[in-house]
Amino acid sequence: MEEFIKKNLIKVKSFHPFFEKALNEMLIAGGKRFRPSLLLSVVRAYEPMLIDSAKYAAFAIELIHTYSLIHDDLPVMDNASLRRGHPTLHVTYDEVTATLVGDALNTYAFEVLSKAPMHNDIKIELIKILAENAGPNGMVLGQAIDCYFENKKLNINELKFLHLNKTGKLIAASLKMGTIIVNKTELADKLYDFGLKLGLLFQIQDDLLDLLDSSETGKTTGVDENKNTFVTILGIDEAKKEADKLAGEIEKELNEFDESLKVELNKLLEKYLYRHSKVKSEKCKM
Ligand code: IPE
Ligand code: IPE
Ligand code: MG
Ligand code: MG
Ligand code: MG
Repeated sequence: MEEFIKKNLIKVKSFHPFFEKALNEMLIAGGKRFRPSLLLSVVRAYEPMLIDSAKYAAFAIELIHTYSLIHDDLPVMDNASLRRGHPTLHVTYDEVTATLVGDALNTYAFEVLSKAPMHNDIKIELIKILAENAGPNGMVLGQAIDCYFENKKLNINELKFLHLNKTGKLIAASLKMGTIIVNKTELADKLYDFGLKLGLLFQIQDDLLDLLDSSETGKTTGVDENKNTFVTILGIDEAKKEADKLAGEIEKELNEFDESLKVELNKLLEKYLYRHSKVKSEKCKM
């Protein structure tokens, strides 16, 4: 995947002194590439010959995710100065640049997807899934609720709704897009629901990781105090319990998948299912 991303970085011909560099900076900085890896795991499980073309779709998701992080870090949202081990774009450049780079990655995602070497019907379906889950009833909605309800407490069901939208849906979309590429449409809903659960776990863990030092996470931490997170609403111990419960359910569901899918997803998920255990209770400052 890294090679594909490097080869497909955004090229801009203009006299702007740093726009092209800024566009690619957070992509090059990397990150876990969790969403592309999910999509590619499904493809590897069923149609490994399609991996090269699937990388277009995997990159499209990573572009959307990276744009969401760049906007998430803006002073008007979470006001974070470190991301993926690097200063955020509004720190290195300015807020206008960071805003526009986010906009550009969002659009470029669909350009990349439209150019994938796949049947047009498949591409339309992938574009639909990605847009539906990233947009006004997906990640963007989650971010809107996250920011609007700062300093206003949500109940647990509202908090889950927030997390499912801001994080769960893109993770679920990654798996579902994989099923479309390999023409396993009968698995689409099942993997989507599995992905929502995985996404909820992923965000609860992220809420817990906010208690760690930024040297451990590569991003600004300690910024969630006024936010609705599993840690601020339930406390660290309950948040960890909820994460354990979800991880257990996910492990069980994984075992019911086809052998090849189980093998591929296990390889990827073993690093993630219990990553919250490294957050110790005494880290809690609340
Ligand atoms: C961070 O996502 C934001 C969330 C939705 C929790 P990741 O933890 O996947 O960030 P990167 O891609 O590795 O930087
Ligand atoms: C952000 O959640 C989720 C996105 C859609 C970007 P957070 O605000 O908790 O993500 P981090 O902790 O900054 O990575
Ligand atoms: Mg945020
Ligand atoms: Mg943030
Ligand atoms: Mg966070």
